[in-house]
Amino acid sequence: MAESMKGLKRTHRCTEVTEANIGEEVVLMGWTQKRRNLGGMIFVDLRDRTGLMQIVFDVNDIGEEAFEKAGTIRNEFVLAVTGIVERRAGAVNEKLKTGTLEIRAKALRILAESETPPFPIEENSQTREDLRLKYRFLDLRRPDIQHGIMVKSQVMTLSRSFMANEGFLEVETPILGKSTPEGARDYLVPSRIYPGRFFALPQSPQLFKQLLMVAGYDRYFQIARCFRDEDLRADRQPEFTQMDMELSFVDVDDVIEVNERLLKHLWKEVLGIDLQTPFRRMTYREAMDRFGSDKPDLRFGMELHDVSDVVKDCGFSVFSGAVANGGSVRGICVKGEAGMPRKKIDALTDFVKGYGLKGLAYLAVQTDGIYKSSFAKFMQPEELEALVKAMDAEPGDLLLFAADKTKLACETMGALRCELARRLELIDKSKFEFLWVVEFPLLEWDEEEQRFSAMHHPFTMPMEEDLPLIDSDPGAVRAKAYDIVLNGCEIGGGSVRIHQNDIQEKMFECLGFTKEAAYEQFSFLLDAFKYGVPPHAGLAYGLDRIVMLMLGLDSIRDVIAFPKVKDSSCLMTQAPGTVAPKQLEELGLNIEVIADTEDKE
Ligand code: AMO
Ligand code: AMP
Repeated sequence: MAESMKGLKRTHRCTEVTEANIGEEVVLMGWTQKRRNLGGMIFVDLRDRTGLMQIVFDVNDIGEEAFEKAGTIRNEFVLAVTGIVERRAGAVNEKLKTGTLEIRAKALRILAESETPPFPIEENSQTREDLRLKYRFLDLRRPDIQHGIMVKSQVMTLSRSFMANEGFLEVETPILGKSTPEGARDYLVPSRIYPGRFFALPQSPQLFKQLLMVAGYDRYFQIARCFRDEDLRADRQPEFTQMDMELSFVDVDDVIEVNERLLKHLWKEVLGIDLQTPFRRMTYREAMDRFGSDKPDLRFGMELHDVSDVVKDCGFSVFSGAVANGGSVRGICVKGEAGMPRKKIDALTDFVKGYGLKGLAYLAVQTDGIYKSSFAKFMQPEELEALVKAMDAEPGDLLLFAADKTKLACETMGALRCELARRLELIDKSKFEFLWVVEFPLLEWDEEEQRFSAMHHPFTMPMEEDLPLIDSDPGAVRAKAYDIVLNGCEIGGGSVRIHQNDIQEKMFECLGFTKEAAYEQFSFLLDAFKYGVPPHAGLAYGLDRIVMLMLGLDSIRDVIAFPKVKDSSCLMTQAPGTVAPKQLEELGLNIEVIADTEDKE
């Protein structure tokens, strides 16, 4: 039976009790991790969010009745224990913070009983994630999940105080708004007052933070929830948290400088690690050429080589043909893997085919100097020599090549590079490799729509020196946009914004907007810009991603208290759910269910 805690006050959390408290009486409250009976003694590991403390119930100390009650304790029962702090009589537990201590119980109350949980509450759970997420309230009791949630809280607190000290104001922006131009699908909320009209949940506070700059707030900061209806991955959730900022009267270097100090501060305070600043910077072009990615993982080498010039006239038509068609041939050198079995190479070929490549050409430089290769027979010995030399290969290395349109060849080899590093365990997981990727293209050609779209968003400033190209060669114009990349993951991105009307109009023209259409969508912003807009720039981090990487985790689900699963539903609440007909009626909605639930994209 559940007892009341009336008259009792918790004095410490479990691991707040230290050797300094030996001899004192304490009151602890928490959950039962484990109970063991040893004759006239019962041992309970009591758990709260700080950790465990061993409680000893001795029939000679607490008497028959209380001892009997202690005998009914089962896992996850909530207890209040009054007792004396003692040095452990039994073996010291080196793994526990409180491993030298125990509490000799004087009184026990069972504040709540518990059913047997559907999975054990323990670190490094082997339980399936869907079961854990269904019972997330229990999963959240597990120490590794708790650690992630606590570090996230710490990161938020540290960021807030850092930003306040730097003169940033925390300002909230609306959740019910109009569509923002970040490029994902919007979540829509129907309006009751205006049947047939919808609010959009913000994909980011982008337009509002720019308006705050127009309003003179100078430096804005917000920990903002954002919503994007897109396909989920390990580092993507439909709702996630941005650490968002905007600054007036600044350029790229100013934004980078304050953010390097912010990240340095977070790593020092949370992990005790001194990051070396300034971080490396690399242009988008260089990142694509050397790593086949705009978010290169710099924890390992295996860079891409462009061997197009070396093979353009060779006898292997896959190579020479790709170059003749305006594409290129990109290779990677996998050190010491010349002996990789054919089966494994076939698996890598399947991997690149998933990216749309037609095949993967290989050349193993065996230690006896003989080449084992899928294409050597088509090439002259001197052509092969030149290729091996261009790849900086040594005996024992395996060379892999992609021949196709340059973008596809680079991106596929970039992905293969990361995949190989994972399979061959080349990644030093203790490293934090930060990188600014700068000078992104302003525009991106959309094959499907046959028009340009903004690579970052339509308010991103072109690089001044590229402005003359905007009519003649818009695809070549670089933007004052930057991403901050950590260990191959984009943790944040931003840009200097356009604050000159003529450039903004030009940008809309490039994107295929008429003046009227641009006005219709962004009238409030364009209007505001008529009333004195300061030069401004900003950046937003994916806060969940920062914490995930800080802790070396593989998924942002582990640092979000109540995450969604792959199909964007919540296994615990069963959201999204249906609503009562009356609610639909009030909103003026008439739902015709067209697709079967299995028909989801
Ligand atoms: P961007 O779209 O690059 O920029 O978003 C900023 C950062 O947010 C994180 N992020 C996500 N995290 C989890 N789940 C998602 N679905 C998700 N989508 C994005 C990424 C990303 O780098 N308004 C601009 C910023 C600016 O220009 O100031 C913006 O939203 O880590
Ligand atoms: P094939 O002549 O089509 O049998 O191809 C010979 C070798 O080239 C095989 O190992 C293929 O996997 C490889 N190959 C085919 N297409 C490509 C491509 N686009 N890029 C790299 N290698 C390829």
